[in-house]
Amino acid sequence: MSSVLFVCLGNICRSPTAEAVFRSRATAAGLSHIEIDSAGTGDWHIGSPPDQRAIDAGAARGYQLEHLRARQLCADDYERFKYIIVMDQKNLKNVLAGAPEGYEGSVRLFLDFTGKVDAEVPDPYLGGSEAFGQVLDMVEAASDGLINVLETLDQAARS
Ligand code: 4NP
Repeated sequence: MSSVLFVCLGNICRSPTAEAVFRSRATAAGLSHIEIDSAGTGDWHIGSPPDQRAIDAGAARGYQLEHLRARQLCADDYERFKYIIVMDQKNLKNVLAGAPEGYEGSVRLFLDFTGKVDAEVPDPYLGGSEAFGQVLDMVEAASDGLINVLETLDQAARS
């Protein structure tokens, strides 16, 4: 079974959006055996539901976010998840800085899966509601890219 952890700063805007969108699209694509979760590098919002603007923007496209609760990235996550997918360069730096010695897992920028090298899903927290729509556009495209990669790996493993 594959496993994917989405990581942003607060775990109330981008990574819960990624978790909900990826779960929905992976299920629709028939990849139902993947463990999917999200976490933040920061600790400010532990236990909180996603930002209301993220809940509303997701709901407008049919994604359910309101049941999710924020948590902080922890040491176990590096063992538990095959892929740690980050939203921006700051997340990338923080996730790599916290990795155990000899860590050999895969940490990747989410927008790598759209073919855009070094591109970021920008933090919408201080933006308007349109920023949350833009996050969704990027997250939907990157989710489909990641699903393609996992499907290809799945097929390779089975052949
Ligand atoms: P996220 O957005 O990393 O996409 O969840 C943020 C949420 C909260 C804060 C920063 C970014 N904050 O500073 O509280």
